[in-house]
Amino acid sequence: MSWRGAGKKSAVFFTCVLFVAAFISLYSRSLHEGTFVKNLLVASETTPRLFTNLDETLNYGSRPAVQTRTSWNAPIMWELMFDANFYDQKHHELNTSVAVTVFAVGRYLEAYLNTFLISAEKHFMLGFPVTYYVFTDLPGNVTKITLAPQRKLKIIQVERYSRWQDISMMRMKLISEVIEKELRYSFSHVFCFDVDQEFKGRFGSEALGDSVAMLHAHFYKLPKNRFTYDRNPKSKAYMSEGDYYYHAAIFGGKCQNVKTLADFCYLNIMEDKMNNVEALWHDESHLNKYFWLHKPTKLLSPEYCWDMLIGDTSDILIKRVLWAPKQYEKLRI
Ligand code: UDP
Ligand code: GAL
Ligand code: MN
Repeated sequence: MSWRGAGKKSAVFFTCVLFVAAFISLYSRSLHEGTFVKNLLVASETTPRLFTNLDETLNYGSRPAVQTRTSWNAPIMWELMFDANFYDQKHHELNTSVAVTVFAVGRYLEAYLNTFLISAEKHFMLGFPVTYYVFTDLPGNVTKITLAPQRKLKIIQVERYSRWQDISMMRMKLISEVIEKELRYSFSHVFCFDVDQEFKGRFGSEALGDSVAMLHAHFYKLPKNRFTYDRNPKSKAYMSEGDYYYHAAIFGGKCQNVKTLADFCYLNIMEDKMNNVEALWHDESHLNKYFWLHKPTKLLSPEYCWDMLIGDTSDILIKRVLWAPKQYEKLRI
């Protein structure tokens, strides 16, 4: 046999060995992958589905008479749409903790704060760590109330602006500051409330979201041309169109999102002041502008902030928060 013939034979032999090796390697890999895929299938069949977004579990068809979803697919929360226990359980697993900001400046403290806090202890985020941040010019007048375990109250002293419009608007500056300095380190979510309201029913973890807006009870059924947006082109709050009319008495979300909202409103309020204009409904006008430009990820139905003076309650299966009676003559400076 020539050396060439021998070389050819060994080349064929090595090629065969390589083929066999490659085949064995591919076959064993496919076997392995097969088991992996099988395991995955078994796992997905036996373990419950992990919801990346809890709102995927909502029953959007449970309230045919009202809108339960926005055009950008944010849920509008109504009674019967959600499973309260499911939300609570998931938020406990997520270690959710909530900060509340509430302003009680001047005569609003004596008139409203106790009712607000005592009723919140009965209905707001029960079972979760909650800290109330009470902003007031009269820290000594805040009476001690009994708080459930894991719940705290902190008082932050603020100045009393001479105009009630400024007391209301400058909340945005103070909310931004407290989030920056403190809340973002200790709380997943923050809710900002007017003090002139009383909790009457569950206001629970179903209301939590990345960016949460409140449908104003007086406007949720009205045509858009009745919405009281700011219509003055000179104001930063000017709007010619919008989605909904939101109520500034309640808004919330993840700390960072609420800070972005508060900064936006505060900067625009200050720019208006430099231009000698004031938006029609003060901070609420700016908040509406913000939510028009940055869509909220969750809307609360008027169950969450109802005015007893409204006659038609056909959609309101449960009143969770009620407006307290207005006493402007007596309370505003
Ligand atoms: N506020 C306050 N003292 C005042 C005026 C307003 O503490 O003298 C706070 C308080 O939290 C109040 C909120 O600012 O709920 C908004 O004002 P108000 O409720 O009077 O406005 P409305 O809801 O009637 O538009
Ligand atoms: C009123 C409410 C005001 C403001 C206004 C908007 O009913 O008391 O706070 O929200 O609606 O038009
Ligand atoms: Mn109010």
